Amino acid sequence: MPVINRIADFHADLTAWRRDIHAHPETAFEEHRTAEFVAKRLAEFGIEVHRGLAGTGVVGTLKGAAAGNRAIALRADMDALHIHEKNGFDHASQHRGKMHACGHDGHTTMLLGAARYLAETRNFAGTVHFIFQPAEENEGGGRKMIEDGLFEQFPVESVFGMHNWPGLPVGQFAVRPGPMMACSDSFELIVTGKGAHAAMPHLGIDPIVIAAQIVTAFQTIVARNSHPLESAVVTVTQIHAGDAWNIIPQEVMMRGTTRAFKAEVQDLIESRMRSIAENICAAYGAKLNFRYIRRYPPTVNTPAETELAAEVLEEVVGPENVRRDLLPSMGAEDFAFLLQKKPGSYIWIGNGENREFLHHPNYDFNDEILPLGATYWARLVERVLAKPA
Ligand code: NI
Repeated sequence: MPVINRIADFHADLTAWRRDIHAHPETAFEEHRTAEFVAKRLAEFGIEVHRGLAGTGVVGTLKGAAAGNRAIALRADMDALHIHEKNGFDHASQHRGKMHACGHDGHTTMLLGAARYLAETRNFAGTVHFIFQPAEENEGGGRKMIEDGLFEQFPVESVFGMHNWPGLPVGQFAVRPGPMMACSDSFELIVTGKGAHAAMPHLGIDPIVIAAQIVTAFQTIVARNSHPLESAVVTVTQIHAGDAWNIIPQEVMMRGTTRAFKAEVQDLIESRMRSIAENICAAYGAKLNFRYIRRYPPTVNTPAETELAAEVLEEVVGPENVRRDLLPSMGAEDFAFLLQKKPGSYIWIGNGENREFLHHPNYDFNDEILPLGATYWARLVERVLAKPA
């Protein structure tokens, strides 16, 4: 692979670091050991270390050999998932029920690799901030870092992110302007009817029948309300009610998730869900309690920064290995919060074909790509913060 020679030289170190982090997964806002590991490496490279944003967040600041007022940020996530690892290799999770099943161990390591190389060479003008964030999964660690003053303390003109992508071959990247990942919202409905003897339904208000109609009617939001060319998902993932063969329960609780790429679509989904559920409940005399929780906004790449990232990637692996044609994912990503504040681009690096997908108990980050990811980061800094000729 066309990696920077100096980075290839310490591939074994990168692999050892990645496996160390993999063996000690830590979940949202508890990344104490990982943050310590990252801070220690950065300090060893001679990089200024700032800690404490969002609790376990770490930011490394490095100035180039040439003076300059410009600054950019590169971001990696550090958290693991609540999954019991099924891999049997030596560096498998030592923390029961927790696992790096999304490759954030690899993301952290690739950014450390770039930091080490850039600290040695400093072949750029201005400042690069290496952001290591907690709690990417569900808990919005990126948003918390912003609330804690990330971009006030570390002002930048743009910010870049990278995620590994199983199924995309090793040596390939994917990039696209506009939406890359979807927004992710959660909802909860409690339909309260009137419990009754199952043999005397006329004496009650059956919330199960009402809930069934709500679930069915929700299917019309994507099919009949949202524009056919816009993407959206409405999925009910939980229905809880009743505990007897012969009793109509008092209430039904339903939960689920919605996805879209645009705020207008997100608004439409929320308002249609509310209206459908309220009106079906009203028709049958049931009460509704509806909660709709905005979790992650869509991850939207800005065109200029995305073109820059794509050009750097084409220089590294050749245009034939930079996929610009992949569909965005309906998955979500809290890098979205950083992109709401700053222009930037979020790309995918191929983790290899025939590999388990993200969040699978047999998922494995591919150590082969560590120097390639680090090379992209390094070349991106040298390109965006190029020294004056
Ligand atoms: Ni992830």
